[in-house]
Amino acid sequence: MPQVVTAGHVNWDVTLRVDRLPEPDGESRISSQQSSGGGSAANVAVALSGLNVDTGLVGSVGDDENGLLARRELDEAGVDLQSLLTVSDGQTAVKYLLVDEQGEVAVLGNDGANEAVTPDDVEPDYVRAADHVHLTSQRPDTAAALAETASAAGVRVSFDPGRRLADRDFSRALDAADILFLNDREAESVLETEYPGSAFADRVLVIKHGSEGAVVHAPDATYEHPGFGVDPVDTTGAGDAFAAGFVAALLEIEDYERAVEHGNACGALAAAEEGARAAPTESELETFLDEQY
Ligand code: RIB
Repeated sequence: MPQVVTAGHVNWDVTLRVDRLPEPDGESRISSQQSSGGGSAANVAVALSGLNVDTGLVGSVGDDENGLLARRELDEAGVDLQSLLTVSDGQTAVKYLLVDEQGEVAVLGNDGANEAVTPDDVEPDYVRAADHVHLTSQRPDTAAALAETASAAGVRVSFDPGRRLADRDFSRALDAADILFLNDREAESVLETEYPGSAFADRVLVIKHGSEGAVVHAPDATYEHPGFGVDPVDTTGAGDAFAAGFVAALLEIEDYERAVEHGNACGALAAAEEGARAAPTESELETFLDEQY
């Protein structure tokens, strides 16, 4: 059984490099186009595998060509796919990612076969056997079932709910999560008060500031890392790489200072290259960190 289980979206990404993100009634020029597997849960699973963490994925794809390609890439990356559902006559979710010259991203997408995993499809023993469960955006009831099953078994749960956080009721999954990953915008939407007074003050809250690093608010202390000042080329999947680096580091040593450093390094290296699956391998991460000091 895998050491980490990630759960959420599995997409097929079509990345269009553009000179600028289009405005209403405007036109942007496409300089290149490429396609590959994406989706936050799948990206984290691949990044963890690259960091030599045995990882399984809970999610769903369609039985179309994109689903086959997505599944093949995950399999080649060494991700355990026994809990990846294939939806008959389903279409794998496709995301069109517009990436401008500064690496900023805008997304157009459909839901496709994502979110076919219901709470009844969750295999409790698969979850209980893990050391860590990492949730990304998905059906709130499925996220809740995964988080509560893991939590009841003493398995650590992290949750990176992503852009649609404000539109969905993730309260049960949030209640069961030990670690919450948010970017600045998402943090504003859920934290009504400063961290020590917020509803999450008994959790580990990781606030990502993009290229400016990240801060970890743990119940006993705060750990800040300024980031690595790498020029972004494509920020797609940088948050997923961050989560993978953070979780992989924590599995080795319970040290949040080191975890946020590793998360930032993985996020920076991923943002410095094109595509959603540009997280570093374990040896690339080590080399990068050695070069910094
Ligand atoms: O988190 C990055 C992912 O979100 C991309 O791979 C793309 O699928 C988008 O939805």
